[in-house]
Amino acid sequence: TVLVVDFGAQYAQLIARRVREARVYSEIVPSSMPVEEILAKNPAAIILSGGPSSVYEPGAPTLDRSLFEAGVPVFGMCYGFQLMAQTLGGTVDNSGAREYGRTELAVSKPSSTLFEGTPAEQSVWMSHGDACSAAPEGFTVTGSTDVVPVAAFENDEKKLYGVQYHPEVMHSTHGQQVLEHFLYRGAGLSPDWTTGNVIEEQVAAIREQVGDKRAICGLSGGVDSAVAAALVQKAIGSQLTCVYVDHGLMRKGETEQVEKDFVAATGVQLEVVDASERFLGALAGVSDPEEKRKIIGREFIRVFEQAQLEIMQEDGPEVAFLVQGTLYPDVVESGGGTGTANIKSHHNVGGLPDDIEFELVEPLRQLFKDEVRMVGQELGLPDEIVQRQPFPGPGLGIRIVGEVTKERLDLLREADAIAREELTAAGLDRDIWQCPVVLLADVRSVGVQGDGRTYGHPIVLRPVSSEDAMTADWSRLPYDVLAKISTRITNEVADVNRVVLDVTSKPPGTIEWE
Ligand code: XMP
Repeated sequence: TVLVVDFGAQYAQLIARRVREARVYSEIVPSSMPVEEILAKNPAAIILSGGPSSVYEPGAPTLDRSLFEAGVPVFGMCYGFQLMAQTLGGTVDNSGAREYGRTELAVSKPSSTLFEGTPAEQSVWMSHGDACSAAPEGFTVTGSTDVVPVAAFENDEKKLYGVQYHPEVMHSTHGQQVLEHFLYRGAGLSPDWTTGNVIEEQVAAIREQVGDKRAICGLSGGVDSAVAAALVQKAIGSQLTCVYVDHGLMRKGETEQVEKDFVAATGVQLEVVDASERFLGALAGVSDPEEKRKIIGREFIRVFEQAQLEIMQEDGPEVAFLVQGTLYPDVVESGGGTGTANIKSHHNVGGLPDDIEFELVEPLRQLFKDEVRMVGQELGLPDEIVQRQPFPGPGLGIRIVGEVTKERLDLLREADAIAREELTAAGLDRDIWQCPVVLLADVRSVGVQGDGRTYGHPIVLRPVSSEDAMTADWSRLPYDVLAKISTRITNEVADVNRVVLDVTSKPPGTIEWE
């Protein structure tokens, strides 16, 4: 395992992903972890991430020198690079020599471990206020920029390497190659980690964990729960039952897709609970977004727990496990932590007895979204499931601005289906992150159609591109595709006479409207 020491929220995850793209397994540890503990994990190599701090700031994260003396190969990036320089006796100046964004790096030692075979001049992505002006003793300077005399260095004998820039971002044109050089040449690792290994390992682990008891899994129709369920199904077969709650806020064809495609691909036992009336009843008269979300969440748990209870009353071994599609970013974001989590069911809600506890089965805990997709593909799930764009749990309920009613849902479902169809036909599904289609149910505008005046609702298209949904930009879709969607929606969906495009990034807008 390669450990990425996290000095600042956004960078470490991307680095861990890039390491895995190089087919070496990696995990993230917080910079607050003591060095002995890091070393006790027996890492094959260590990467120090960038971060928002300055090594000069009081209270900025530091590192014990012993990390560099344990014989483990280390690669410092940006803040990690400066920390390495400072800890080992180099000079880091707070000289006001700032560099942000694209910068040209001049490689001064083409035969170096990191840069061999890469161009003498390469674009790199910088983001720093401090700069290293002298490398520590024993280090060779391998690259510089106009502003920074020491932008890369290495001590090949001690297997210590560093770059001032961010090799993990796309804008650093040879960043992945440099990272691979560190992993393969510097640390001597082989690219042999695959999602195939993950399946084998997880199947064995799940069998061991579940034994001859039973498990249940809530399916949302999303990628994560589908892949988790398929993996557990592969491990324990009929000991698993999946529950799919149809809250009536699904998109067109969604429930049928889960019922048919998913079952066909996995052979899983599926209980579909049609709870649309219950949800619509609970949502009647409500237009506040937070209130809607709370109601949907609450009803969801109630229905799910009822289904659980029914399954447990069927004859058979104890239902002791709950399968969840938790991903690695979820684990990291909530502060990491290992060990088995035990969640106690909301016995006050679904009428479950006090003493029922579920142990969680989370086979995707180590994976990123794109890796989950690969696992899903390898498990034979169809593209319609594996390549699905994100869709919020509360569904179309938070894409109707205003009260949610059956009529409005039907209308939005039609508009959404048209938009999806045209985006797919134009081959744009992989280019965009997702495209919420929103109904402004409380807004009307005047239009003309045929010979008559109309007074209908607008539909908003919200196509966005994003890497992780934390930030997003609006997608520059081709005008002819937008035109086609607009024409079809206004022609085919009754009561809609206008289609508008949301051209707001996130921030300041969120992706969803509610
Ligand atoms: P926002 O609107 O916060 O959305 O920019 C970020 C991403 O999260 C999705 N989303 C949700 N997913 N339950 C979910 O499972 C939710 O309640 C929820 N709300 C937003 C949204 O589609 C986008 O991908």
